[in-house]
Amino acid sequence: MKNIVITGGAGFIGSHVVRLLVNKYPEYKIVNLDLLTYAGNLENIIDIKESQNYKFIKGDICDEEFITKIFNDEKITDVIHLAAESHVDRSITDPLSFVKTNIFGTVTLLNSAVNAWKDELDKHIFYHVSTDEVYGSLAEDGFFLETTPYDPQSPYSASKASSDHFVRAWANTYGLQVKISNCSNNYGPNQFPEKLLPLMINNIKNNKLLPVYGKGENIRDWLYVVDHARAIDDIFHKGEVGETYNVGGFNEWKNIDIVNHLCEIMDDKLDRTPGESAKLITFVKDRAGHDHRYAIDASKIQKELGWEPSLQFEEGMRKTVDWYLENEDWLGHVTSGQYKSYYKIQYNQE
Ligand code: NAD
Ligand code: TYD
Repeated sequence: MKNIVITGGAGFIGSHVVRLLVNKYPEYKIVNLDLLTYAGNLENIIDIKESQNYKFIKGDICDEEFITKIFNDEKITDVIHLAAESHVDRSITDPLSFVKTNIFGTVTLLNSAVNAWKDELDKHIFYHVSTDEVYGSLAEDGFFLETTPYDPQSPYSASKASSDHFVRAWANTYGLQVKISNCSNNYGPNQFPEKLLPLMINNIKNNKLLPVYGKGENIRDWLYVVDHARAIDDIFHKGEVGETYNVGGFNEWKNIDIVNHLCEIMDDKLDRTPGESAKLITFVKDRAGHDHRYAIDASKIQKELGWEPSLQFEEGMRKTVDWYLENEDWLGHVTSGQYKSYYKIQYNQE
């Protein structure tokens, strides 16, 4: 019997992890703890909200008294920690909120876990979900391995790197049983349209300009979000305590190429003349300190846990585009209000 608290379960990746575990493990209790910031949305997991083994609790991972109460009241046996501020551009304009949530929030959770489990630390797992961005930026060659030294370059990645260090420190100092994974860029349903692909899908649909930073030469390694959720399930259940696993899509794309490819898919789905959506592409001022390339070597999780991405990229992209086109209400809700003012400040246009 496990009572797992998943933090950030109303966000993009967290919602897919919550859904997978609620459906796959009816014998567990899954507690979704989320503050519902601009990025958290209960619509993301509306399909499982009545499940017997599921409970949502609204709250802040930075609030130690509240977190301690959840550990006690819900008899939490394990943590899968995804709650975070997650967007690099926002970390450039508001770094302190990243320090608060990603560092202070993670340390608060670690403290509460050790206090709650202190008499039987060997029976519990604290699993921290992190990013490949902690390793810094690659040139044209090479891959991030689990042993690559940390070299974060943005306020976001520095805050995530810091949180990873705190997790390892709690393992070493207090004997907490931890696991960490560092994943590449995710795409798929329910991603907030501040990130590259959903922002471009929304703009293509609305015939708005497609803002590509710099020359569009930066490279990212893309993984379908459900495959990340499957990796998290495998690592939580089968991964070695104290180990780190890199997760990636074996799927590198230059930004300009992925945006052009998306335009082709959208032309097809929207019955537009081939080339019509790509006319919206506009090169805009580059992101400050823009990391050139991320690329994961995921052979450790492949060899040790037998994990593989299940979807080919083409299929994943088509599923993603279909989801956004079929879920106009979701997109309408998340792009109303605050999103409009964010967009105006970030892109200097309506
Ligand atoms: P997201 O921004 O979509 O969701 C974050 C969630 O955390 C939201 O539901 C938000 O309400 C919640 N949250 C924020 N502050 C909170 C607080 N103080 N207390 C409780 N809940 C809070 O993020 P995502 O893209 O789903 O990323 C989830 C995790 O995975 C993050 O830790 C991120 O660093 C990591 N990650 C993301 C990617 C990616 O491509 N998106 C890749 C690798 C790793
Ligand atoms: P993003 O989705 O923000 O993820 P990350 O910065 O964590 O990799 O951005 C992916 C890539 O797309 C990154 O190189 C920045 C670029 N990008 C644009 O060119 N235009 C945009 O409007 C956004 C949001 C991102």
